[in-house]
Amino acid sequence: MRLQLAPSVLSCDLSRLAQAVAEMMDAGADWIHFDVMDGQFVPPITFGDQMVASLRPLGPTPFEAHLMTLTPERHFEAFARAGCQRIIFHAEASPHALRLAQSLRDMGVQAGVSINPGSPPELVRPLLEWVDLVLVMTVNPGWGGQKFVPTALDSVRAIRSWAPELDIEVDGGIDPTTLPLVREAGANVFVAGSFLVRSPSLAEGIRRLRQACG
Ligand code: DX5
Ligand code: ZN
Repeated sequence: MRLQLAPSVLSCDLSRLAQAVAEMMDAGADWIHFDVMDGQFVPPITFGDQMVASLRPLGPTPFEAHLMTLTPERHFEAFARAGCQRIIFHAEASPHALRLAQSLRDMGVQAGVSINPGSPPELVRPLLEWVDLVLVMTVNPGWGGQKFVPTALDSVRAIRSWAPELDIEVDGGIDPTTLPLVREAGANVFVAGSFLVRSPSLAEGIRRLRQACG
């Protein structure tokens, strides 16, 4: 399985977002991860498709939108049009997760489904053949800079045992210490936000994470 890094812009200085995204692209990020929060599914509000679209001309690195929103399907088309190659919604946010995944693929984008650390992995089991990626949250969604929740490793292990070839992404509290744990459990796509911002530079942080991938 190819190990991939997906830096999140959430903890960056938003007044210098273009520079941050350009630096992530130059440092060889595999994806740029956009955390979209609606003030309903999670308390904070972040940004929408217009902001993502404004960054799209910076380079060819694929974009993924992580929708921490209720009624995520209302925004699928907008984020696809903004240039996201993958759109991830929360299984907890819709009673129609399978239909939503199908609609993403019909739009020509990769379908991702996410679960909170407090949700059982069984929630996504019926969806596995209909999605391109499962995102296991390793913190409670809503904020950067939180502490890694180790019990989420059990969800990663379970999903990996059910889907040996599927991309499994982890998001929250990922740094060079926790990355080997999630990799060992079976994850192959790693989101990181605050670790990169705490690093001497975004590029140096990405280099350290890549090193931790082994
Ligand atoms: C949290 C977001 C994450 C966030 C991770 O709800 O989904 O993508 O940026 O931040 P860190 O890496 O600081 O835990
Ligand atoms: Zn995220």
